[in-house]
Amino acid sequence: MTKIENNADGTERRGTERTEKTEGRKIEANSGVKPLLQSPAFEDSKHHIKIYQGDCLEILAAIPESSVDLIFADPPYFLSNGGITCHAGKMVSVHKGDWDKSRGADANHDFNRSWLAACQRVLKPDGSIWVSGTAHVIHSVGFAMQQLGFKLLNDISWVKPNPPPNLSCRYFTHATETIIWAAKNAKSRHTFNYKLMKETNRGKQMKSVWEIRPPEAWEKKFGKHPTQKPVALLERILLASSHEGELVLDPFCGSGTTLLAAFRLHRQALGCELSADFLTLSIRRICSNLVQVDLSLACFQFSLDPLPDPVDRSKCASRMSAQLQLVQQERRFYFIGRAKREVIFSVLADSLDEARQKFRASGRSDSDALFIIKTETSIYLA
Ligand SMILES: C[S@@+](CC[C@H](N)C(=O)[O-])C[C@H]1O[C@@H](n2cnc3c(N)ncnc32)[C@H](O)[C@@H]1O
Repeated sequence: MTKIENNADGTERRGTERTEKTEGRKIEANSGVKPLLQSPAFEDSKHHIKIYQGDCLEILAAIPESSVDLIFADPPYFLSNGGITCHAGKMVSVHKGDWDKSRGADANHDFNRSWLAACQRVLKPDGSIWVSGTAHVIHSVGFAMQQLGFKLLNDISWVKPNPPPNLSCRYFTHATETIIWAAKNAKSRHTFNYKLMKETNRGKQMKSVWEIRPPEAWEKKFGKHPTQKPVALLERILLASSHEGELVLDPFCGSGTTLLAAFRLHRQALGCELSADFLTLSIRRICSNLVQVDLSLACFQFSLDPLPDPVDRSKCASRMSAQLQLVQQERRFYFIGRAKREVIFSVLADSLDEARQKFRASGRSDSDALFIIKTETSIYLA
């Protein structure tokens, strides 16, 4: 195994050469020059949520030392290596993405040690970190934590109540993932909201075995991530070990589950993600939580002596659909301001591209809008 030492800022030192190791490549850093934090791919300054696209090692290196209260990390499992698994009752090969391929036990461990060191540097003195993983990765994570001087607090067994069957019939059915909880170092006085956890557990001390269902259908409404964690799991972690207003970081944020849980529980959130597709998914999930659109429908009779109440047909549409004819359809796009949380522009357009062009033509720039809401109205008549 390569011998690695750590600089004070968590980057690695091999002999006299100072390097920051990233997935599969090395970036030479000029000693003494602090890397600059790129601008986030998504930022909601009102709720203090930021997502950076890129390699978490580069991003973590640019985050100030001792600035983060809590970290949840769900790193690559290194298990997409041609094996088989059961998905929706079918035999499928395990391919979660190139990011999940093993590079060999030593390289995988070097990678785990690098990002854990970078996380340790940014944690506040009393901060703590949770890392989830299967057997493919979690032993290396635990060993790296011991090498780096983290203080191990608990290893949680997350039990999945209804796991997919083991198709080979040569092993027990895999039904758990381990989540290691550790404080920054031996001196840390970590946060544990003991009373709250006991209350959540109907007055009994909470054990380190947690039975939590995998993500529900509503959590996958905007798309799927192959290793998406349930919001309920992240909410328990955040409630157990952080307070409102504190900063939570997820270096491998995937579909944004940690950021969503942080938003729902009034924590600040910072995420890093390599993939543009997963970044888009997490932005969709977060923005959908920033919006509530109430729709109501009422039909008024046009006569000299109108009925006292309008005729509400909103519940009848599905029952009548066989005889209905589409008579009017429109798409409206609402641009929500980045600086002020209000509708700064709205326009009827056939497509998002057309709406964007009209937005720009109105003299505004793309960065003025935090996100865009599309509503579609279709009127059918019998
Ligand atoms: C196990 S998944 C995390 C899933 C996440 N917990 C969720 O609920 O959606 C790991 C994620 O890390 C990303 N990733 C892999 N290597 C990375 C790196 N060096 N920096 C940032 N993200 C990385 C992958 O694209 C993947 O989405």
